[in-house]
Amino acid sequence: MRILVFGGSFDPPHKGHAALLDAAARQLRPDRILVVPAFQAPLKGRPGASAADRLRLIRLGLLPALPKKWRKRTRVELSEIKSRKQIFTIDTLSNLKRRYSNAELNFVTGADSAATFNLWKNPAGLKKLALWWTATRPGADEKIPSFFSRIEGRMPDVSSTEVRHRLAIGEGVDDLLSPLVRKSIARRKLYGVRLLERLEVSLKSSRLEHVLCVAELAESLARRWNQDADKARLAGLLHDLGRSIPIPEMPSFARRHRVKVPDLKGIEAQNPALAHAHLSEHLARKMGYTDPELLSAVRKHTLGDGHMAPLDRLLFVADACSSDRNYDGVERLRELAFKNLDLAFSAVVKDKLGHVKKKGHWLHPNARRLWNSLRK
Ligand SMILES: [Fe+2]
Ligand SMILES: [Fe+2]
Repeated sequence: MRILVFGGSFDPPHKGHAALLDAAARQLRPDRILVVPAFQAPLKGRPGASAADRLRLIRLGLLPALPKKWRKRTRVELSEIKSRKQIFTIDTLSNLKRRYSNAELNFVTGADSAATFNLWKNPAGLKKLALWWTATRPGADEKIPSFFSRIEGRMPDVSSTEVRHRLAIGEGVDDLLSPLVRKSIARRKLYGVRLLERLEVSLKSSRLEHVLCVAELAESLARRWNQDADKARLAGLLHDLGRSIPIPEMPSFARRHRVKVPDLKGIEAQNPALAHAHLSEHLARKMGYTDPELLSAVRKHTLGDGHMAPLDRLLFVADACSSDRNYDGVERLRELAFKNLDLAFSAVVKDKLGHVKKKGHWLHPNARRLWNSLRK
């Protein structure tokens, strides 16, 4: 018996999954198809939607997309989800091998997962348990291990990460998701579909305008400097979530919710508003955002730190130069950001921290590290 095993987070299932499964079924002609949603894939963060929601979306979107012939042979394998913990693929495949001892297992996965295969637990054992299949997306440059065989056919250029970003920033996903999946996501307010609504409800109108301006500039700068524009826009939308908490309450909020804010006592005594970036990160996590780059940029947008990654720098600059800002020299800085982002970043840091230093005012340790890193 030939079994096609299709594993993934399906967070959410999109047209790329459906196309890959359909093409794999036609090419491999399996006797049985097992779709295996992970509770939480070991190399990924916490999924953006619960296991129950992802299961619902698989049943609404992925299975009906298969031709009837293959759909009849398809089961959703629930063992990983039912375990309610991270399960390694080696354990799932070993269990399947025990259950179907004479079967030939064919594991099909997306190119982004295939590219990380060497980081999976026990790659040598995995190679013995199954035959490995993947497809490449047009334009993607993933490095796929050579023992993977190719599923033929043109796959749509779509990833779950991109779908989640688009949903969170209110951009269209008609070309990426089946209509039923789209409706269910909207109805259940998954993947930060509620972000824009939430910003409108929780931020003052002037702050909301600022946030939208920062998101717009961050997106443009990301396009200019070949960074992920959707992610940059999302970072802009999330960066001042913490401003929804009244300034005097920020330190107590941080304590109550166990948000780690470095030198919270100093912040409380000197300028409680400085806690808001860490609170933004906390609230973003609560909303289901897990991307470390995204969360780092949000966390560092006010105080900075000794190490600033490209997106950290970009958001730091976008926050200081957004079109709602009108201090002397802001237009020059904005222009500079499109000519040389590093120079603009240095100029913004000097602007922000220079006068604090000059007046001998208190400087938060993270801001001091940022200042020192630039002096080097
Ligand atoms: Fe801020
Ligand atoms: Fe801001």
